[in-house]
Amino acid sequence: MSQLLWWRDAVIYQVYPRSFADADGDGMGDLRGIASRLDHLVELGVDALWMSPFYPSPQHDAGYDVADYRDVDPRFGTLADFDALVAAAKERGLRVVVDLVPNHTSSDHVWFQEALAADSGSHARDRYHFRKGLGVDGELPPNGWQSVFGGPAWTRVPDGEWYLHLFDTSQPDLNWDLAEVRDMFEDVLRFWLDRGVDGFRVDVAHGLIKESGLPDWTAAQVPITSPGAEHRNPPMWDQDGVHDVYRSWRRILDSYPGDRMMVGEAWVAPAERLARYVRPDEMNQAFNFNYLMAPWTAADQREAIESSLAGVEPVGAICTWVLSNHDVVRHASRLGFEPGYSTQGGIGEDDPQPDEALGLRRARAATLLMLSLPGSAYLYQGEEFGLPEHTTLPDTVRQDPTWFRSRHEVRGRDGCRVPIPWEAGAPAYGFGPGGKSWLPQPVDWARFAADSERGVPGSTLSMYTEALRLRRTHGLGGGTVAWNEATDAVDFRNGPVRVITNFGKVPAPLPPGEVLLASGDLAADGTLPPDTTAWLRA
Ligand code: NOJ
Repeated sequence: MSQLLWWRDAVIYQVYPRSFADADGDGMGDLRGIASRLDHLVELGVDALWMSPFYPSPQHDAGYDVADYRDVDPRFGTLADFDALVAAAKERGLRVVVDLVPNHTSSDHVWFQEALAADSGSHARDRYHFRKGLGVDGELPPNGWQSVFGGPAWTRVPDGEWYLHLFDTSQPDLNWDLAEVRDMFEDVLRFWLDRGVDGFRVDVAHGLIKESGLPDWTAAQVPITSPGAEHRNPPMWDQDGVHDVYRSWRRILDSYPGDRMMVGEAWVAPAERLARYVRPDEMNQAFNFNYLMAPWTAADQREAIESSLAGVEPVGAICTWVLSNHDVVRHASRLGFEPGYSTQGGIGEDDPQPDEALGLRRARAATLLMLSLPGSAYLYQGEEFGLPEHTTLPDTVRQDPTWFRSRHEVRGRDGCRVPIPWEAGAPAYGFGPGGKSWLPQPVDWARFAADSERGVPGSTLSMYTEALRLRRTHGLGGGTVAWNEATDAVDFRNGPVRVITNFGKVPAPLPPGEVLLASGDLAADGTLPPDTTAWLRA
């Protein structure tokens, strides 16, 4: 099965194009840079890469503001570079997943430019959500909806109407009630499928459809939508109508050979609600942010794993697992605080700083736990080096719209987006030939460079490589979790491998058996130290 449906147990590596590798030396990564580092992904042993957006964009939200869905931004290269990258990936047996941003366009998109030039009530405006304002002269927004990045979700245009943007003002939300909008995205899917992509990561998959009439909702945006807590869905998230969109996309994907897939970015809880996105005729996978957000305690981790597995079981889908991406504080830093401490708004120079050694230790334990779980796992570029967040980035260089829209209250996501280190001794750690980097890299990152860790026993890169090899050898991605019910610890068996993580403060006994891999050194007496995961053949 896993050979046929490759995505059911795949390890998928997220490339953030602007920060992965820079071939032209301008300080921003590009497609030729990605192509030049594909062998790293092969050595690491992943199955696929997912690339965040590289489409033409004014880059007000790092490319998640797309001005043209069928081209490559000149900063990142050309369509020919894209084709060459896909060919080079295929030659190496790597699959390629691209990002699709259907909830909103860029304000530079031709449709939005037409809408701005058109009159109130026109077809051009109907492609978005334009409304008259409240108040005597319409000077107040049409409702109290808040933007995810802070501030109101509405911006007024010169003729007095307002348009909806759940994110930045430069990201107007599309009106998915319109057949023309649906048709356009179906064409976009075909455009990239025809170019050979294996799948799509669907941005804001829970946001496309808004509750009809846009009823008022004044609560601040929360990271994960849970009707359990609010007793009803917020009117902008997780509306039933989104599922029709994914059913029609699934039909398109299935009409192509080669198991094309889509994975939804849906910040939806509880797990049963998320499972609706991965019913047999919808998406193939959905990101598991419940798991990403689970605190570092045995009870929370076990609960997150059990509820995730139970959530997808009735619909016959697989689970996904993820610890880091371009929107959250890297797990090597996130876990350097005590459980319960929130790093959701990012970390700045004058914030409490993580305990780096503790964070790395727990991050390695968390990764080894994650990679033992059945289903598909996502890695974020640089985590294989144990790379921490840049937690002291000067505020003057920040680019995340969150920082600006929150009026400098929320630091945002730049700290996890810093160009990654490849060569310890090279300018910009080998990011590109110009020695430049669009966000400054910390001065002490040489120790995390790929060439500092490659082939070094015990390095984080060696641990990831060995974990991926063993995961494949023992079929862990296609396995099942059988808990050791004699304990509350995270202790289970997946096929021939027993997995134990010690979340406690004191060493834990290890059962007899051959230690296949551990996230840290075992104690001299053979016990499992705190914040360590071991895989045993027992
Ligand atoms: C989710 C993306 O991952 C994030 O980076 C982006 O800002 C928002 N969607 C808006 O597109």
